[in-house]
Amino acid sequence: MSAKAWATMNAVDIITKKKDGKILSPEELEYMVMGYTRGEIPDYQMSALLMAIVLNGMTREETVRLTEIMRDSGEVMDLSGIKGIKVDKHSTGGVGDKTTLIAAPIAAAAGVPIAKMSGRGLGFTGGTVDKMEAIPGFRTSMTREEFINSVNTGGIAVIGQTGRIAPADKKIYALRDVTGTTQSLALITSSIMSKKLAAGSDAILLDVKCGRGAFMKSEEDARQLAEWMVEIGNAAGKKTMAVISDMNQPLGRAVGNALEVIEVMDVLKGRGPADITELSLTLAGGMIMLGGFANTMEEGHAKAVSLVEEGKALEKFREFVAGQGGNPHITEDYTILGKGRHILEVKADRDGLVTGLDAMAIGLASQHIGAGRARKDDAIDMTAGIILNKKIGDKVNKGDVLCTLMGNDSIKIETGAAEAMGAYELGSDAPEKNRLIKQIIE
Ligand code: URA
Repeated sequence: MSAKAWATMNAVDIITKKKDGKILSPEELEYMVMGYTRGEIPDYQMSALLMAIVLNGMTREETVRLTEIMRDSGEVMDLSGIKGIKVDKHSTGGVGDKTTLIAAPIAAAAGVPIAKMSGRGLGFTGGTVDKMEAIPGFRTSMTREEFINSVNTGGIAVIGQTGRIAPADKKIYALRDVTGTTQSLALITSSIMSKKLAAGSDAILLDVKCGRGAFMKSEEDARQLAEWMVEIGNAAGKKTMAVISDMNQPLGRAVGNALEVIEVMDVLKGRGPADITELSLTLAGGMIMLGGFANTMEEGHAKAVSLVEEGKALEKFREFVAGQGGNPHITEDYTILGKGRHILEVKADRDGLVTGLDAMAIGLASQHIGAGRARKDDAIDMTAGIILNKKIGDKVNKGDVLCTLMGNDSIKIETGAAEAMGAYELGSDAPEKNRLIKQIIE
């Protein structure tokens, strides 16, 4: 944009235009996004624009342009130093979603090079980087050379989004997390795809969540998000596909960073909960197919199952942890991950069946007891989290433990327990079964 065009724009006019439901020009989007990234536009003006976007939406063209501006706000990684088809995976965010830490080592064990950048928790959802940091010693940042060498030698490296990759998204993501502006088709599409396109992999597998604990509540909204992202990815020359999966209740039984790492290892040992196991194997199968090690998703899935059964996936996870400075003995000794000082059980006040388990309410309870952030620079209590002793369809008797909260702040745990209790719906009629994997969009 010319300096003259830049000088004639101002943030208030642009915010007002979006507040009035009008379409922003590429120049206006660039003015706001780049101005904010450089620190020329303050948090309060960017927050106002984000809220106007959440409320009034953006067209597909505005979203494509926003994605490109955010992608080009920093470096676009060159991963040509890594041999093979590099496959990336990204989840739109859920509660108890630890699939990256399961599917990525499985795909790496099949021979797919994984050079992945992951995010931190956002709002009520968890993030892979926070989970990895629950492992003592684990480094989530590396130099570019270390990153490429790790993939070339061990087949897998997962790091946090560096400040060089899509810095506009990094800054806006952190602001959205604390301003109630996470739930927007356009903002989620541009946030995810700007990073994925800048991160340099050749193929992208997206896990688009839908339901109460997802940003997209309905299957229709999830499908639209999946289609926009798949289209943007393919148009940019990356083979992109999406799996739409259920997020009405949390995935697996563990929510919270250290607890989720334990569940990851249980799944890799073949003894994890059925839902998280099934979704992780499907995603791993997709990654194996995109990486050229299977002709179909089914063949990829079967390979993923064998790699877990043969112990090769767990072995790859151990190598991955050690390669990034973490303690590999966690696979045999879970106590290395530490334990919260306070434990509180939430018990059923009557007999019945669990007919609903609100994933968002559990995500919020977990955030409030210390597993997530309320402010941008809040520290996380890695031991804080919730074990879901009962899930949808389980029978309960009065006094049975529904869930168990743990962490280091007893007062927060007391309030979190009330929230967690509110997440459970008990009834007498068997609930309708929700399909875990709803659709695959290629
Ligand atoms: N994940 C992202 O990276 N960005 C979003 O906006 C939501 C989920």
